[in-house]
Amino acid sequence: MSQRVLIVGAGGHGQVVADILLRMQEGGHPIEPVGFLDDNPQLWGKRFLGIPVLGGMADLPAIPHDAIIIGIGDNETRRRVFLQWKAVGERFIVARHPETVVAPDVIIGAGTMICAGVVVNTGAWIGENVILNTGCTVDHHNRIGDHVHIAPGVHLAGNVEVGEGTLVGIGAVMIPQRKVGAWSVIGAGAVVTEDIPARTVAVGVPARPLRE
Ligand SMILES: CC(C)(COP(=O)(O)OP(=O)(O)OC[C@H]1O[C@@H](n2cnc3c(N)ncnc32)[C@H](O)[C@@H]1OP(=O)(O)O)[C@@H](O)C(=O)NCCC(=O)NCCS
Repeated sequence: MSQRVLIVGAGGHGQVVADILLRMQEGGHPIEPVGFLDDNPQLWGKRFLGIPVLGGMADLPAIPHDAIIIGIGDNETRRRVFLQWKAVGERFIVARHPETVVAPDVIIGAGTMICAGVVVNTGAWIGENVILNTGCTVDHHNRIGDHVHIAPGVHLAGNVEVGEGTLVGIGAVMIPQRKVGAWSVIGAGAVVTEDIPARTVAVGVPARPLRE
């Protein structure tokens, strides 16, 4: 029997998540994306990738389903919505595109999304509600906190740590053993050669704080 999944968020990222679920289904995974939920009423009744937008978040309990996933790109919003539904006992699935390479010992938290072309190496620990976006690489023994977004094309070397809620921007690189604190932003294309504290925006090569 297939798992019926609702996708919370029908914007750009929600549609990427829908595509991953459809690829999983195509590959024989017992999964059925039954619909999107989005609080923008203009989207209600529309279809993306053939999947209908069934209503707003308040409608979730009334729609038969087995699990949900939060398809929202913004880390703070995704965290809030994830925790809201977790608190009432919702189950979260992991969306993993079939064209990814993930070592068998990697630990992946509930509700995490692993997009096309991602590679995750041995010993890595990935938290809940994380986005590992298109083509990023997360090397051995990384520790990626809950609600993090690793953007497309990022390369994290071995033993890197990324704190809860942080965005590592598109194409950024972190050299081995470096740490970024919680709720920081690493700018697009940055090279992190030194640890970056929590709640800091850092840009450039090498990455330097722009502001707190
Ligand atoms: C770092 C970032 C968050 C800063 O955004 P911001 O606060 O709006 O900053 P601004 O655009 O006002 O730029 C401030 C200064 O930083 C510079 N800057 C911004 N982003 C930069 C980057 N990635 N690398 C180098 N310099 C950067 C700007 O040129 C500007 O410099 P100036 O003051 O000399 O003119 C943003 O530019 C960024 O890189 N975001 C990543 C987005 C991303 O990858 N999302 C994932 C998509 S899937």
